[in-house]
Amino acid sequence: MSLDIIKHYPVMLNEVTRYIQDNQTILDCTFGGGSYSNEILKKFKNNYVIAVDRDKNVIQFADSISKKYINRFSFNNITFSNIKDLKEFKDIDYFIFDLGVSHFQLKDSQRGFSFLLNGKIDMGMGLNQFNGYDLINNISKNDLKNILKYFGEESFAPQISNAIIKYRTKQKIKTTLELSEIINSVKFKKGKTNPATKSFQAIRMVVNQELSEIYKTLKYIIEHGKINSKVIIVSFHSLEDLLVKRIMNFYGKEKSISRYVPEKQNYSEDISVKILTKKPIQASQKEVIENPSSRSAKLRVFQKISKPINSLDRKDLKMEKYFLLEDECLKI
Ligand SMILES: C[S@@+](CC[C@H](N)C(=O)[O-])C[C@H]1O[C@@H](n2cnc3c(N)ncnc32)[C@H](O)[C@@H]1O
Repeated sequence: MSLDIIKHYPVMLNEVTRYIQDNQTILDCTFGGGSYSNEILKKFKNNYVIAVDRDKNVIQFADSISKKYINRFSFNNITFSNIKDLKEFKDIDYFIFDLGVSHFQLKDSQRGFSFLLNGKIDMGMGLNQFNGYDLINNISKNDLKNILKYFGEESFAPQISNAIIKYRTKQKIKTTLELSEIINSVKFKKGKTNPATKSFQAIRMVVNQELSEIYKTLKYIIEHGKINSKVIIVSFHSLEDLLVKRIMNFYGKEKSISRYVPEKQNYSEDISVKILTKKPIQASQKEVIENPSSRSAKLRVFQKISKPINSLDRKDLKMEKYFLLEDECLKI
């Protein structure tokens, strides 16, 4: 399928660029189709944009932006947890994240993200250590059940994991259609949502180590990034947003403001992050009508104001059950 014919809507583009100024170095950590990078280069004549994406298929978009904005743009095919290795890391003024999969990835049957398109069960965005096929065919029943339950909030997790394990004792599960049929055999369709939606999403998140990537990267930026740099982050999934919020709160919130703030010592002196969006910004009604998937997007912005005294430990976030499952899958 040609990538050009897929309509792509950059989510909350105006809201994101409103936080940016000219004469800055921007790191677009999730380049995708390049709409954010392109808009920033167009709108601010003296900004330099460094882009990152784990998907090598986006290099074609990066090449066309490089030709348009000579000497103002560069691209790196790495995961964002590796931005610490960029030689420009200490100079970055803005880190931008637009999390999740792109339309291009979702609509490409060969990538295996969609239960509506038949293809190999891959689900990797790029630079993955294992894919959906490895996971589905090798993971233990208990871990599979917990992945579906925790990452997908799937109430049929026990039935679906039982059905998957039963099927795979006879033959490997090779295609998205096979997987979707197994799920449909134990979970019947109610309403408009496809019964496989939550399971596919859960598997995708684990294959791409999505929560671990966010945790490692935000922690590194806050602990080692430039003072006064800003992080602009759009998330689509409630777990991603919860993780972003807890990381922000750990470094940035007065204890009395929130019911949930991870514990740390010297709290009153150790506020290294200023939260610039008290509540997450959501897409306008107009945008939701044009692009219904923007409905679940949440935009948060924060600024590193000083070097933290306390380093964040993953356990402080009280999300260990998710991280441990992501770790466990690296062993399959
Ligand atoms: C929603 S799209 C971004 C769309 C982009 N803002 C635009 O304007 O076209 C998300 C992109 O981030 C990339 N991505 C997701 N997680 C990543 C990670 N951990 N490291 C690097 N790239 C990642 C995906 O491959 C995908 O291309």
